Amino acid sequence: MQNSVEIKNLDLQFGAVKVLQNLNLEIGKGEFLVLLGSSGCGKSTLLNCIAGLLDVSGGQIHINDRNVTWAEPSDRGIGMVFQSYALYPQMTVEGNLSFGLKNAKLPKPEIAKRIKHASEVLQIEPLLKRKPAALSGGQRQRVAIGRALVRDVDVFLFDEPLSNLDAKLRADLRVEIKRLHHKLQNTMIYVTHDQIEAMTLADRIAIMRGGQIMQLGSPDEIYGQPINKYVADFIGSPSMNFLEGNIKNGTFEMGELSIPLDGYEFGDTGAATEGAATMGIRPEHVVTGELVESTPFQVDVEVNLIEPTGSDTLVDCEVAGHHFRVRMDGQSRVSVGEKLRLGFAPARASLFDAKTELRL
Ligand SMILES: Nc1ncnc2c1ncn2[C@@H]1O[C@H](COP(=O)(O)OP(=O)(O)OP(=O)(O)O)[C@@H](O)[C@H]1O
Ligand SMILES: [Mg+2]
Repeated sequence: MQNSVEIKNLDLQFGAVKVLQNLNLEIGKGEFLVLLGSSGCGKSTLLNCIAGLLDVSGGQIHINDRNVTWAEPSDRGIGMVFQSYALYPQMTVEGNLSFGLKNAKLPKPEIAKRIKHASEVLQIEPLLKRKPAALSGGQRQRVAIGRALVRDVDVFLFDEPLSNLDAKLRADLRVEIKRLHHKLQNTMIYVTHDQIEAMTLADRIAIMRGGQIMQLGSPDEIYGQPINKYVADFIGSPSMNFLEGNIKNGTFEMGELSIPLDGYEFGDTGAATEGAATMGIRPEHVVTGELVESTPFQVDVEVNLIEPTGSDTLVDCEVAGHHFRVRMDGQSRVSVGEKLRLGFAPARASLFDAKTELRL
């Protein structure tokens, strides 16, 4: 696949504070890449470097095979939607959309054509004569996206575009953004700290921490084979259960419990491992009832707490002294104090070295 954006050995520091450190990333043409990480990890900083709003301290940025490391933002062929989108309140929607194009001295018919196209795609045609104050949050957000769209570029940078919206609207606009990307086939670099947004939108997710990319992979890879305990814990809600124990002779031992590791696929470094380790198992990969019969590992627990969410019921219990959560069907009838038999397949688990926290 041809690359659309290449970031090579990028460094950025504010004074003595290193925010991005030797960061490398290649984004394919038409790819939807999501930058995901907790607050302060450097997501916006990276996006601003790509956009040319920050001067880098070292390294290079290429867009469509052109070195743009020192190019002006307007000369990079990108459209950006900011974390806090500000529309010009005194201008109509149409005015907001055309402002940048007029400044760039584009001919009037061309401006009209682009506004028509963007407003059709975003379904904001009936709103063109209104001012931002007369729009809902979601409509304003679509106008903000429209301002990037009219620039007629093929790389879009989105910095948490949905963070100001309520949950329902976020979910709706998420689908719209996905549809937009299908239609336009543009390259998308999208920042969020919402993992559902990341999982549903991305072709690939880059998990960032402390100014570096910790894992880069498809949503399936990140969810199924997290590279270390941090990523495992960060992705998934409710988060993964962790059990501390020891690997010995192909089993994972925790006090009196012993979990056979048949079927677990060790990575290159993990196969010969013996010693202290952490086993991670997702609440949705634990089964109860009749299904337990077919699982290689089974354990009896007592229900401590129940959290119904409607579609699912989360059951809290303890396994070998560790807090443990199980996701059951919302229809399940369980009560606090009840004894329950759980089972899971170690093939679905993740094992991490206790010291380095890397996947085994
Ligand atoms: N102008 C600045 N001067 C000094 N430090 C800064 C500056 N801008 C950002 N930082 C620091 O750089 C780090 C990364 O900031 P950045 O805005 O990229 O985080 P983020 O991942 O986008 O977080 P959020 O999810 O909260 O938006 C933070 O620790 C921040 O305090
Ligand atoms: Mg940010």
